[in-house]
Amino acid sequence: MAPNCPEEVDVFTIPHSRMKELVKKYLNMVSEINFADISHLTNLLENLVNTFKEFKAHEQIENKYIMKKLKDKLRALSVRNTAVCNCHSDNQLTDILELVQDGYKCTQKTETDRKNFGTKLRKALEDFTETFIPHMEEEEAVFQPMLIKYFTTDELRKIKYKVLEKHFCQ
Ligand code: FEO
Repeated sequence: MAPNCPEEVDVFTIPHSRMKELVKKYLNMVSEINFADISHLTNLLENLVNTFKEFKAHEQIENKYIMKKLKDKLRALSVRNTAVCNCHSDNQLTDILELVQDGYKCTQKTETDRKNFGTKLRKALEDFTETFIPHMEEEEAVFQPMLIKYFTTDELRKIKYKVLEKHFCQ
């Protein structure tokens, strides 16, 4: 949770709990799976497609309902901050989804191909996790205090409501 952040205006902690739950789930799955087994592999790939689509939706919700509002507010106040513009600028989510699509092709290939794919996928997921967890921590530690500084409590309550609605009610 963001340090010293009242729960009513904390826009990150609840969605991030869900994202961390998904991370834990795929790390468990990928550590136990036998990549040579086609049904194990297919089950993992389906889980990853759903998970990374959810990560993408999370990012889009943050962009639209948090970062854009923060950017607009800073612009109106003539405050310069490039971090707000760049926090979702890489293609990691798309890269993983493309890799997962390659995994489906491996279901038609040899056991060795599937094992090799497994090594590549494990490494990609570990690399992703190593940046995604700190990214969420940064949002909580850096952007949440900025939101509190530049928005009123009532504005943040509305942002939080919208963020949770978009994550969990659609
Ligand atoms: Fe909350 Fe940008 O991940």
